[in-house]
Amino acid sequence: MRRILSGIQPTAKIHIGNYLGAVRNWVRLQREDYDPLFCAVDLHALTVPQDPAELRAATREMVATLMAAGIDPDRSTIFVQSHVPAHSELAWLFSCVTPMGWLNRMTQFKEKAGKHRDQAMVGLYTYPVLMAADILVYQATHVPVGEDQKQHLELAREIAGSFNHRYGVDLFPLPEPQILGEATRVMSLRDGTKKMSKSDASDFSRINLTDDADLIAQKIRKAKTDPEPLPSEPAGLDGRAEAANLVALYAAMAEQPPAAVLADYGGQNFAPFKAALADLMVAHLAPIAGELRRLLADPGTVEAVLARGAARARALGETTLAETQETMGLLARPTG
Ligand code: TYM
Repeated sequence: MRRILSGIQPTAKIHIGNYLGAVRNWVRLQREDYDPLFCAVDLHALTVPQDPAELRAATREMVATLMAAGIDPDRSTIFVQSHVPAHSELAWLFSCVTPMGWLNRMTQFKEKAGKHRDQAMVGLYTYPVLMAADILVYQATHVPVGEDQKQHLELAREIAGSFNHRYGVDLFPLPEPQILGEATRVMSLRDGTKKMSKSDASDFSRINLTDDADLIAQKIRKAKTDPEPLPSEPAGLDGRAEAANLVALYAAMAEQPPAAVLADYGGQNFAPFKAALADLMVAHLAPIAGELRRLLADPGTVEAVLARGAARARALGETTLAETQETMGLLARPTG
């Protein structure tokens, strides 16, 4: 049995990068022979300042969005990270066996902390240790993510392997990243060298799953390109970051290899290609936005899913946590 775990930060709206890089793959990995768990990682969101009321609303909305996109609570365990205290407790245990040198290598911290490293919060620095705990507390074997999470996954594997080795146990599997599809690193629509991100100041840098048809068409029409026509083969996209990004988006949405997309559009200018890309996105995203509106109007359904998800996740997490504590020499908890 494959145990799958993945998470998404409940900050701002989910965009097409999150969807194509992660969530759409999660939907497809809900198979009979897998045990998938998906969570809104609210504790990770706290590593940068948040407005409490907005975070609460965004967490509910993220869970509803995952359901609207096709995560089925009858096939997957859907929950909120902070509802399972074992994540934080395991993170502390891991932080006592993770050398600072491993964290110093993490590029995401360097990018997010920027020049003012001393003012960044400790939680932002130790974030990857909590992420390792998110995965390993369920002894997950597979982790479907976008490419930007690869380094964090490598750290989780290192922590799992070194823990097993240090204590002579076989407690944690080494989790495998699953980086799937044609759009594993979607770039900003304004700058093809920057990742599409929830935190970019410009809303025109990304397509949100809740954008309406007009806005999607407008954002794609305004997406940065270059003056050359589209090439006829993928090699012609080298050095053309914006064109490569739009072709990857089309390929992912149409589920065609980039070569097939360029066989249709090579030699043409961007206008008809952008119009077709906008149509594809609207056709795909409109039903998700409709289902999201329905779920947001029915908070009882989301609450019930979260209660069921938390109960199952807690039971699994507690078992691994107790075993880890015992392995490390903590006294077993008194019973009764
Ligand atoms: P987050 O919330 O930034 O993103 C959620 C998922 O979306 C993917 N993603 C992208 N994929 C393609 N192109 C993009 N531009 C793009 N932007 C984001 C991410 O790779 C991710 O899969 N640290 C994680 C959350 C996390 C987690 C975990 C993931 C916490 N614990 C345990 C897996 C397992 C994050 O910040 O994702």
